[in-house]
Amino acid sequence: MAANNRTPMIAGNWKMHMTAKEAADLAAAMRAGLDPDLKHEVLLAPTFTALHAVNAVLGGSRIFLSSQDVAWEEKGAFTGAVSPSQIKDAGCTHAIIGHSERRKVFLETDEVVNKKMKAAIKANIVPVLCIGETLEERESQKTYRVLETQLTGAFAGITAEEAAKVVIAYEPVWAIGTGKTATPDQAQDAHVFVRKQMERIYGKGYADAVRILYGGSVKADNIDELMAQGDIDGALVGGESLKADKFLRVIHFQAVLSK
Ligand code: 13P
Repeated sequence: MAANNRTPMIAGNWKMHMTAKEAADLAAAMRAGLDPDLKHEVLLAPTFTALHAVNAVLGGSRIFLSSQDVAWEEKGAFTGAVSPSQIKDAGCTHAIIGHSERRKVFLETDEVVNKKMKAAIKANIVPVLCIGETLEERESQKTYRVLETQLTGAFAGITAEEAAKVVIAYEPVWAIGTGKTATPDQAQDAHVFVRKQMERIYGKGYADAVRILYGGSVKADNIDELMAQGDIDGALVGGESLKADKFLRVIHFQAVLSK
């Protein structure tokens, strides 16, 4: 019997990979391979140019569509940006916000992340908020401080009611694309800390309900032990989500739930 009511979520972040046709083909394979009785949530995040094509394939399925980013403005002179209503128009119900690659490569600050969170929530898009420390930060014992700062910044000025649907993804930067997965204990420890921070910000009811995904070198052969941890509610998967058979195995994880 589950000790919590959190519905697991497995999300695939396809990053800057695939043409629209390739993404639609992969989405079709995911749809076809999904156990019809699966109770948890599945989310696909293709690149912007593939959203329409993937949405056409997913129509009527239980798989949700997400963008990998979203602008904080609705429209106007913002060359290169894509607004909440535009991703909604393409079929998205979710948006990844604050991914470490956005923070590092595109220099997004916590303030920018916060603006994007607010814009998504206003448009009724579910933010999948990414947080996580670098290797240097972990090695200098700053992990908790970094997570606390990122969470405080991301949720600034957002009420508990507005934040109700937000999904958090803990992605230690040193584990992304490196093959170095956090151990289940390391991940669980960080997730417990994140949940405590959410309790500090919004109270225990919120903290008990919020879903916290783990991301960073999640594979078909390590998902089960990760999902067996009491505070890991799902996964945000990069490389392994590009291979239908592997990602299907991740989605159909077989954790012996100690929850
Ligand atoms: P990898 O699974 O390739 O490490 O990427 C994780 C990630 O960044 C998902 O958002």
